[in-house]
Amino acid sequence: MSISDPEIVTRSRRFDVDAIRADFPILSRKINGQTLVYLDNAATSQTPRQVIGALTDYYERMNANVHRGVHTLSIESTEAYELARTKVATFINAPEPESVIWTRNTSESLNLVASTWGQANVQAGDNIVISAMEHHSNIVPWQQLAAKKNAELRYLGVNADGALDLASIDSAIDSRTKIVAVTHMSNVLGTVVPIVELARRAHQAGAVILVDAAQSVPHMPVDVQALDVDFLCFSAHKMLGPTGIGVLYGRKELLEEMPPYMFGGDMILEVTYEDATWNDLPYKFEAGTPNIADAIATGAAVDYLTELGMDNIWEHEQRLTAYAVNQISKLEKVKILGPKDPSLRGGVISFIHEAIHPHDLGTALDRQGIAIRTGHHCAMPLVRSFDVVAAARASFYIYNTESEVDALVNGISEAERYFIR
Ligand code: ALA
Repeated sequence: MSISDPEIVTRSRRFDVDAIRADFPILSRKINGQTLVYLDNAATSQTPRQVIGALTDYYERMNANVHRGVHTLSIESTEAYELARTKVATFINAPEPESVIWTRNTSESLNLVASTWGQANVQAGDNIVISAMEHHSNIVPWQQLAAKKNAELRYLGVNADGALDLASIDSAIDSRTKIVAVTHMSNVLGTVVPIVELARRAHQAGAVILVDAAQSVPHMPVDVQALDVDFLCFSAHKMLGPTGIGVLYGRKELLEEMPPYMFGGDMILEVTYEDATWNDLPYKFEAGTPNIADAIATGAAVDYLTELGMDNIWEHEQRLTAYAVNQISKLEKVKILGPKDPSLRGGVISFIHEAIHPHDLGTALDRQGIAIRTGHHCAMPLVRSFDVVAAARASFYIYNTESEVDALVNGISEAERYFIR
């Protein structure tokens, strides 16, 4: 393809970082006298005007409860709420919108599966397979379930370079494996996990596979049918949406068999003084008044990302990550955790400075207007496996630029001048 190829021209015009940045009011904020450099996207992403506008529009024009009213506002808000579900289903290529359940966040989606599917399907002597690079949200619910059921919790290993140890699959997954629950992309190492292969191995053993996609759905094309996964969990606030809303995708046959997670309004079909029966999917899992406004705003976030193109977003972040790994690696006292090869990772870069504690580094960078995350990143066992208790982490999104990576690298050098005398 030549540079005059119409496809390339259209793509680059559509992925115009300056135009994208203009949609995010917070990016022009000054922090400690400096223009904000926001590199904490793995914790939460920033919100464009279009999503803020969807929230305002909902409360100014449409606010009413869903599935309950015959009046115009209730009908309109129900339609908008269900349209947002359809947008999410299309975004991840779910076969039908009923297999998309609104939750509070990824953690709630994971807990829902561990509590309901796990309670019904895991028995004494069975095993649950997760990986050593999971977020606490994809460890603790399984620890609790395993303890309750007298089942075994097994871990797929992580290599020294931060990749999943594929050899450990053979010993971990067997005929007593009921579920394989793994991250799609590590929130510490940036490692992209080979889900298609794991799904194949899980299904071959008669197990189901759940994917914690909190760090992948916002950044790369994710197709639940192509990945052949049974459950997929993610949060809106890491993909330009509001906080307090997340998604559980589940294969319809599995969701239909699972008992409800919470009981109350909207999730019932019929209630007597003695008993109750359950509503159809997805309502069986959405007890009480749902988070209507934030669901609708999540639909607006999906529109924004779709308009940019998930392929273009992934390409932009891959380019930025390669640049960042290269530039950070030039700093002698800094060690990057996770794969160095950008084709094996996403835009989450954790690093250790041999002479500066991550919290000091984070504070020094904040004084220069640069926001990173420091600490154990809700993955204590993984971080400790690198013989540290904390790491600094920079993570990228659609609005980040190479000059912001330069600001980070200069910021670290500046901190070295201050802390190392
Ligand atoms: N899971 C989020 C993070 O990695 C909060 O920062």
